Amino acid sequence: VATVSCLLPSMRHSLKKSTWKLLEMIAKEAEDQGWHLYIVGGAVRDLLLTNNNQKVSLQDIDLVVDGFHRSADVGAGVELASTIQKKYPNCRLSVHGEFQTAALLWHKDPEFGSLWIDIATSRTEFYPYPAANPEVESSSIRQDLYRRDFTINALAVRLTPPREGELLDFFGGLLDLKGKEVRVLHANSFIEDPTRIYRAVRFAVRLNFDIEPQTETYIRYAIESGIYDKLKLKNHVTPALTTRLKAESKYILEANYWKPALQLLSDLDSLKCLHNQVILDDKIWWQIRCASRWLRYLDPDNNIGHWLIRLEILISKINPQERKQLALNLHLPKDSLERIDKDNIIYSEIQELLLKCNKISDKYKQLYRNKLADLILVAVNSKKEVRRIIWQYLTQWSKIQAPLNGNDLKRMGYKPGPQYKLVLDRLLALTLDGEIKTQQEAAIIVKQMFDNG
Ligand code: CTP
Repeated sequence: VATVSCLLPSMRHSLKKSTWKLLEMIAKEAEDQGWHLYIVGGAVRDLLLTNNNQKVSLQDIDLVVDGFHRSADVGAGVELASTIQKKYPNCRLSVHGEFQTAALLWHKDPEFGSLWIDIATSRTEFYPYPAANPEVESSSIRQDLYRRDFTINALAVRLTPPREGELLDFFGGLLDLKGKEVRVLHANSFIEDPTRIYRAVRFAVRLNFDIEPQTETYIRYAIESGIYDKLKLKNHVTPALTTRLKAESKYILEANYWKPALQLLSDLDSLKCLHNQVILDDKIWWQIRCASRWLRYLDPDNNIGHWLIRLEILISKINPQERKQLALNLHLPKDSLERIDKDNIIYSEIQELLLKCNKISDKYKQLYRNKLADLILVAVNSKKEVRRIIWQYLTQWSKIQAPLNGNDLKRMGYKPGPQYKLVLDRLLALTLDGEIKTQQEAAIIVKQMFDNG
């Protein structure tokens, strides 16, 4: 962990030159207005965790500006961001007025690459009821940091004079970075925002930190108090909360550390935040790992969204109606909703049908209309015998082609028509069953079929 007297030299050294220059420019603008500007949150944490020789590639930078602004409608953050945007027409400005927050976004920019800078106006928030959206009120940087999740995320570096480069560490974040602990700032934090439980797990696993014991007690208390369910009954589950819950679940389930993170979520009993029927028993655990192995092999480019399949399995034991509602609340994509809708029916149907088939071509017919994700889900829900058939289909049979195709039939002089499909299906079936191999053998079958009409 870096030393702390003045962090500007080490920041200049660690950051990309263009990013550093941009921060200097934003700081100068703030200074000219008589405002204070701070870099806060994850960026400071990651900079402090980096040793001096390493470069840090920050794509997501949080700034907080503290100062009076001219208009009652927009905060200093919004004003500052607008000024910067005028100088960089390549970046997009997006304003979340309610929270006095502005974001500057560069997308695949030649100078900045992909960069997202949030500029907030320092403020305090209070929660009128647990897990509600925070309401905003202008205040100082200390209060802004106090409303954050963990001490390691509640550090700031001042970017404007006087004392630019100074680390602001009101809550012992630096000690916790050194001690490798995720410590919450106040006892009610998880009650106010249950998604922070997922964040605690994410940071602990990603940074190889421990969750500090008192913090763990708060987590368990929040879960035991049934926070999520209670809120649901009172209809206080805000879209913002479920959006955050989805984002944090996705973050964890698609990270390369998803296994220990999921295990830790389960150990803390916090999968209940998704739904009180979600548990990671041996069977579900096995299914998730098995599906992940298949996905890695069969969908190496991750077109399906492996995290979604893991989530679908995780929630698969919830009763169908509530599971569907949960999937809708979490705004899962259409493919996922369709799978969740039909799973139990297709699993048992395909299993039964496959077990009745003797020939490869018959098994093929039962499987070829299904999408890869469906088949993987069927496989992990089936007995070994069926799973093996599906694996053979996916890795071998689905790649087999008959010795002749439609163009070959045309070249051989057969008139295209409905008969073609019958003939080609038959050729494929015979090829799958090993009854024909060569074009000559296929040609005999074709002739017989066309001759017989
Ligand atoms: N934050 C919070 N509670 C949440 C989400 C975010 O207090 N439920 C605060 C944290 O202080 C965090 C900051 O908002 O540092 C920015 O959030 P985010 O970008 O999600 O976190 P990072 O710390 O930047 O994490 P990462 O490096 O994974 O992006």
